[in-house]
Amino acid sequence: MSRQPSIWTTVTSHLKAANPTGPVMYFAPAVLQATARRFIDGFDGLVTYAVKANDTKVVLENLVASGLSAFDVASPVEMRELRAVSPDVALHYNNPVRTPEEIAVAVEMGVVSYSIDSMREFEKLRAQVPTDGVEISVRLCLPVEGAAYHFGEKFGADPEEAVALLKAVNAAGYITSMTFHPGTQCADPKVWMHYIEVCADVAKAANVTLARLNVGGGYASNRGVAPDLEAIFAGIKSAKQAYFGDNAPTLVCEPGRAMVAEAFTLATRVKAVRQDGTVFLNDGIYGGLAEAHQIGTVDRVRCLQSDASELACDGRPRVIYGPTCDSIDRLPDPLALPEGLDEGDYVLFDGMGAYSIAMGTRFNGYGKADLVTVQRLTA
Ligand SMILES: Cc1ncc(COP(=O)(O)O)c(C=O)c1O
Repeated sequence: MSRQPSIWTTVTSHLKAANPTGPVMYFAPAVLQATARRFIDGFDGLVTYAVKANDTKVVLENLVASGLSAFDVASPVEMRELRAVSPDVALHYNNPVRTPEEIAVAVEMGVVSYSIDSMREFEKLRAQVPTDGVEISVRLCLPVEGAAYHFGEKFGADPEEAVALLKAVNAAGYITSMTFHPGTQCADPKVWMHYIEVCADVAKAANVTLARLNVGGGYASNRGVAPDLEAIFAGIKSAKQAYFGDNAPTLVCEPGRAMVAEAFTLATRVKAVRQDGTVFLNDGIYGGLAEAHQIGTVDRVRCLQSDASELACDGRPRVIYGPTCDSIDRLPDPLALPEGLDEGDYVLFDGMGAYSIAMGTRFNGYGKADLVTVQRLTA
């Protein structure tokens, strides 16, 4: 029996040797650790990770190994996943709508930070959460553009509500903070800067000194244009100084997408090419390409022949379908794929670590990719 390495050198070394028939998610821990370092070195405050973007155990383990000591969790399941990896990282429970049963689990798990956006949710927390050493952040929502889609429809208090909530949290004796989320896949530092300015106004109107300001996730990943994270970090730092001055709160960020996207490449395989050029892949929107309809197709694509030799991706735009029987299992934008693309060839999507594995289904028996660890994602 031949032994297979547990860590392959490259994507192509695995494809050549394993000739996989199903989709494969290739994970490069070195890339994830480098991104974590980029955030830790560049961001002026505490770097946490939004587990929802990718809760794979090796991702959480690598982030803990990279020095992250706090994580944003959305549910009791995510709390348990994190506790299975580390007994002592801090849990920030920033899903602002919770049942009493979920709050009870959070208290038992030792959650140290919660966010709220309504008085009713605050009352639910007050009924169970001790004040000692526990932070409650008031989540602000503003009508700003700049992200791939707006999160404010669902969560967040307007400035007037936020003032009332801040006063209530402070009067109850919790560590009082604020938070916001600019919306995902946002590349414009001005969005964060505007939020920080309004947070300072809200805190002033409530006459509350903020302990911390959590400036959310939202940081764009590379979907054809490499994001300038350092410009965002610089904008956040300068806005904190400009609007809060000497009495500034400690900053916290909780990236999901930008932390994990670049560490994964999805390898799909061509099942069929129709006469009109339409391509059927062995993965689609019910699997690793789950976000395509909300946020557009990732167009960082590489094509390989079935023996894993390179094919130039310079052909005409094609309609791409996934493997299920559902006709919406189709990428929203056509992809330029080589003329000679054939059954058994590979189509690789780079930058696929966020909201892919976490959102994939088992619809029609498809959607689950094998996870393979590699030293490098490119040759
Ligand atoms: C509270 C909170 N924080 C952080 C994130 C991560 O956002 P992103 O993946 O855009 O960085 C999300 C995403 O839904 C969120 O709801």
